[in-house]
Amino acid sequence: MKKYKLFVACDSESTSKVKRIISNTQSSKLKIGYKFGLQFLNSKNGRKFVSKLKNQITFGDYKFSDIPNTCSSAIKAVSDLKFNYLTIHISAGLDALKAAKKEIGKTKLIGVTILTSLDNKALKEIGFNKDVKKLVLHQAKLANKAKLDAIVCSAQEVKIVRSIFKKEIITPGIRLNSKSYDQKRVLNPKQAYKNGSDWLVMGRDITKGNIKKNVQKLIDHLNQ
Ligand code: C5P
Repeated sequence: MKKYKLFVACDSESTSKVKRIISNTQSSKLKIGYKFGLQFLNSKNGRKFVSKLKNQITFGDYKFSDIPNTCSSAIKAVSDLKFNYLTIHISAGLDALKAAKKEIGKTKLIGVTILTSLDNKALKEIGFNKDVKKLVLHQAKLANKAKLDAIVCSAQEVKIVRSIFKKEIITPGIRLNSKSYDQKRVLNPKQAYKNGSDWLVMGRDITKGNIKKNVQKLIDHLNQ
């Protein structure tokens, strides 16, 4: 049977917590990668920890968003970490995406569409006139133009993105529990895979509390 693919978000500034996350999420039932974001990568020992990590699928969630030269320079600056995946905001613009792609080498470049913590009301607040679904579709077209390797969007938009984007689709905003915290566009794991997500990203529902039990809860949910 095909294994479900999951990136566990290692959102902490503590290397011992991240070690605990990695050792407690080992499972033969899932294909697991580890996502390191702004909190860990900016922590005192986070970068060093990632530089020494071996035999894992790694995802550097920097969400770069800057002028083309700065984006490509930043990608060069982290190339020693040899991430399998790395993120850039699609809203950085086509030239920045192209510059990043040119620099990235073997690492897969993921374009981040509208954050899963934003809904239509929040988008209006920051000055966007299109609704979320239209914007995400628009950004997926840009990702195609820039030849990006993957897209991050909400699991609610996978079908729309899939209609025009044929490479990997990665979805955060996954909720196994009823608490959605700061996320707005959420879906449960089963629905997300059913919609066609290649990878889910899960943080707090896995890493808060008893990690092993949370992983088992996810596996049970997927087998239901
Ligand atoms: O704890 P939770 O499952 O909400 O964590 C989701 C993770 O995915 C966080 O690390 C967050 O930074 C990241 N992410 C996201 N929405 C995006 C892109 C990344 O939630 N659009």
